[in-house]
Amino acid sequence: MKKIGILTSGGDAPGMNACLRAAVRAARANDLEIVGIRSGYAGMIGGDVMPLDRRAIANIIHQGGTILGTARSEEFRIKEGRAKAIKMLQDTGIEGLILIGGDGTFRGGTLLSQECGVSVVGIPGTIDNDCYGTDYTIGFDTAINTALEAIDRIRDTATAHDRLFFVEVMGRHTGFIALESGIAGGAEELLIPEVPTSVDELCQRLEQYFKGGKRSAIVVVAEAEQAGDSFRIAREVKAQKGFDSRVCILGHIQRGGAPTARDRVLASRLGAAAVKALIDGKSGYMVGELNREIAYTPLKDTWEKKKPLQAGLTDLLKILSD
Ligand code: F6P
Repeated sequence: MKKIGILTSGGDAPGMNACLRAAVRAARANDLEIVGIRSGYAGMIGGDVMPLDRRAIANIIHQGGTILGTARSEEFRIKEGRAKAIKMLQDTGIEGLILIGGDGTFRGGTLLSQECGVSVVGIPGTIDNDCYGTDYTIGFDTAINTALEAIDRIRDTATAHDRLFFVEVMGRHTGFIALESGIAGGAEELLIPEVPTSVDELCQRLEQYFKGGKRSAIVVVAEAEQAGDSFRIAREVKAQKGFDSRVCILGHIQRGGAPTARDRVLASRLGAAAVKALIDGKSGYMVGELNREIAYTPLKDTWEKKKPLQAGLTDLLKILSD
């Protein structure tokens, strides 16, 4: 293998740049040429390629976002779109490909590795932490710390006004961000897709807290399928129990900002591991970290299998919030 390509795809995540830097440096250390493909799969279809020399990845380890840009490509979902992308890889002489992204990226990567002769290796980069085959994804640690800072600030004003707050965090299908930022922020309640909770149950528990002497409370809500659903929940709680509340949706601020040390180390480690995987002849795998060791998981499993929440954490929150 002489030449490899790398792209970032799907929602950006803090640490993607640190990962690009590591992959470029590791490739060069092994005398491999490496090029960047801009804007994810859309750039692969359009042939939007840039050289990644030493200077291109200098001084980016601390930056959020991704210097390659990212996108979600509808065209890549259809076979004709992927055929254009495969032709571009062949024309450019790319023999190995590193994909940094989440479940959508790996769905595309699975098809790509089946349909073309290029070796494909994925790296988990998404704030949602919802990739099976790795304890943590790149960007998750930064996102929970961003959410935590916001929750701490909200607690100040919630306490000052004796108020109930709903804080909505990201996480399209999963409650990883909500769970960890909720525990760290001392949330009273958690609404996550993994543990369905009715408004009735929520109201009963809030009532208990207030009867037990609490004067303010924070409910951390995972946005799940419908961002902004917290407003509906807050309205229903008001209608049932008369509890007045405020809603704060954290949204895309969780996607930006300088990556934490944890995310930079994980990104650096996985960037180098992905290059090694290609050199070792692996294809169709995601490189992740399980129990502190590098682990290879078939790309298909990363999105077909459901990653469980860390055992015991939802029960822990219940005990701690009493
Ligand atoms: O996949 C990461 C994520 O941040 C999800 O939590 C969120 O639902 C989604 O991306 C929003 O993405 P966008 O606004 O870029 O479509």
